[in-house]
Amino acid sequence: MKKTLSAIILVALTAIPAAADEGMWLPSLISQRIGDMQSKGFKLNDEDIYSINRASLKDAVVLFGSGCTGELVSDEGLLLTNHHCGFSYIQKHSSVEHDYLKDGFWALKREQELPNPGLSVSFLDYMQDVTDEVTSADDPQQAIKQIRERAVEGRKGVKASVESLYYGNRYYLFVYKVYTDVRLVGAPPSSIGKFGGDTDNWMWPRHTGDFSIFRVYAGKDNEPAPYSEENIPFTPKRHFKISRAGVSEGDFTFIYGFPGTTREYITSDAVRYISELSDPAKISLRTLRLDIQKKYMSTSPAVRIQYASKNANVANAWKKWQGEMRGIRKMHTVASKEAYEQAFRDWAAGGQYEGVLECLDSLYTLLEPYNFAREYTYESALAVELPQFASNYASAKDEAAAEASAANFYKDWNLDIDKESFIALMKAYATGVADEFKPEYYFESMERLGSVEAWADEVFSEELCGGRLEGIEESAAYAFRKAFVKHYNEVLTPEYSRLSAEITALYRDYMRGQMEFEPQKSFYPDANLTLRVAYGKVGAYEPADGIRYRHVSTVKGIMEKDDPEIYDYNIPQSLRDLYAAGGYEDTPVCFIADNHTTGGNSGSPVINADGNLIGINFDRVWEGTMSDVAFDPEFCRNICLDIRYLLFVVDKVCGAGSLLAELDFAD
Ligand code: ARG
Ligand code: GLU
Repeated sequence: MKKTLSAIILVALTAIPAAADEGMWLPSLISQRIGDMQSKGFKLNDEDIYSINRASLKDAVVLFGSGCTGELVSDEGLLLTNHHCGFSYIQKHSSVEHDYLKDGFWALKREQELPNPGLSVSFLDYMQDVTDEVTSADDPQQAIKQIRERAVEGRKGVKASVESLYYGNRYYLFVYKVYTDVRLVGAPPSSIGKFGGDTDNWMWPRHTGDFSIFRVYAGKDNEPAPYSEENIPFTPKRHFKISRAGVSEGDFTFIYGFPGTTREYITSDAVRYISELSDPAKISLRTLRLDIQKKYMSTSPAVRIQYASKNANVANAWKKWQGEMRGIRKMHTVASKEAYEQAFRDWAAGGQYEGVLECLDSLYTLLEPYNFAREYTYESALAVELPQFASNYASAKDEAAAEASAANFYKDWNLDIDKESFIALMKAYATGVADEFKPEYYFESMERLGSVEAWADEVFSEELCGGRLEGIEESAAYAFRKAFVKHYNEVLTPEYSRLSAEITALYRDYMRGQMEFEPQKSFYPDANLTLRVAYGKVGAYEPADGIRYRHVSTVKGIMEKDDPEIYDYNIPQSLRDLYAAGGYEDTPVCFIADNHTTGGNSGSPVINADGNLIGINFDRVWEGTMSDVAFDPEFCRNICLDIRYLLFVVDKVCGAGSLLAELDFAD
């Protein structure tokens, strides 16, 4: 009986054509979507995507580090991901003599490949629904612990986690094999891998060759092993074949990867908070910092290098939030959620879900000031660099660690930028945060010193700025950091956490209620850095009235942007020469599709209808960044590197074509 019922549900789910290509689906349940995928052009079946009985595409996809995706492309462990995902490793190997960030890096022989301590890649071994065991336990936390322990018992290099899905309505066990010997094989110069820099970031048309190449190594038994010269290239159960056939408008595409965080089922209050309060405040604080950084970076090449990575990090979310805020407003997400909630309340009246939304509403009202004060403090007082360093230095575990942290800090620190930022941020803090959410220390300091400028003079003392670090715990910088961290942890956070826990518990009901309210709809769980499938199609879009963007970009566009005077647009001479020789105008660079992706999907394989690799995902378009909260098929596009551009760059621009010999081509 049970079986036939679930079979009926399955047929029902499969038969409903999804209105849009929204969704990040669980691979182990992909049988529920496979009919829809096939109707949209996919030629393989569910067992090709995910199987625990035989090799499937999932065996060629990894969590790269702790926040990106990568894919295996040879039977000798060769792995592709984004340049920005490999950035910090490439940077660590770089020096003035060997500037791999600037010039690129190519290991044409295995012994030239560079190990990366701290980097790991995780293959999903299997996932399993453990809801019953967790929810029926007297102590769910204890049950989760036991499930995890059982999963790793007696196995080498295995990691397990139990994650809540649908706000605690489902629990899944994820078991990973973790390989820790991962070596750098190749990276293009930043003028290709980060072409367009932060100006082009989150934008289309795009011409960034955002890829880097690594190799996974294993012990002699092909199992995970710590770095050793004895290790051998890992043979994956499955690797991607590469398709050079290219993409056309409307082609089926599928993204397999590890999306980090989405919040598609939150209430109108939560969305309003994001678009009306949180995003605008964080954007304005970061604008202050970015303007100051830019002023100094544009006049000094040394400062530009010092702040390259910091600036990129600050700018990345800053720009995303702007797109998100505008997208939410443009889509009228708050109003449409309000209308939805009204319908939900009408439906829920008299039943078990009556009052859930009202409770959430009043909890959000209580949470909001704490949430805001936390975020504002984090983006202002806690963003100042010198106090942060003072605290790290003082708490270093030994002298060597302290010295290393000092060397690391001063190398990339600029007093003028940091001090000006302090002044700008603390002036904003004065009015940005309500007095009742400020620490006593703030008022004492302002009263004692009379102005933010005088406070800055005290915090940025001559000793600390000059690197004289004895007695750092007596410094004003240390006291500043300590006071704000204490206030954050001991005053703002406890109440925030208490209310958040209540909200989370209620969301469990609200989520279940939404599923019962709309039984015909397929609900995908919010992203939580677990493996997901997103599918859709290649497609142009119209970002605004009168503008239509094509679905592909080409090398011609790189030449249009090329400018030796502007750092981010100054392409390698070899690319200019190739272009001048002719024949590469139409070489594809990037394409866009309507796959539902988010942060964490960077480096994800972009797969065609035959299951072959056609690109590497690396970004979204600016007008679609609200998709973490609400997906709009008209404006949401993910940006992919065309795999043929990777082949062109490796072979023609960088002269490392011998690396391509181990790839398998489907066509
Ligand atoms: N926007 C992409 C992502 O969210 C790429 C970021 C690369 N960093 C940068 N600042 N350009 O991660
Ligand atoms: N660049 C993002 C990442 O690092 C992917 C872009 C997005 O947020 O969709 O994961």
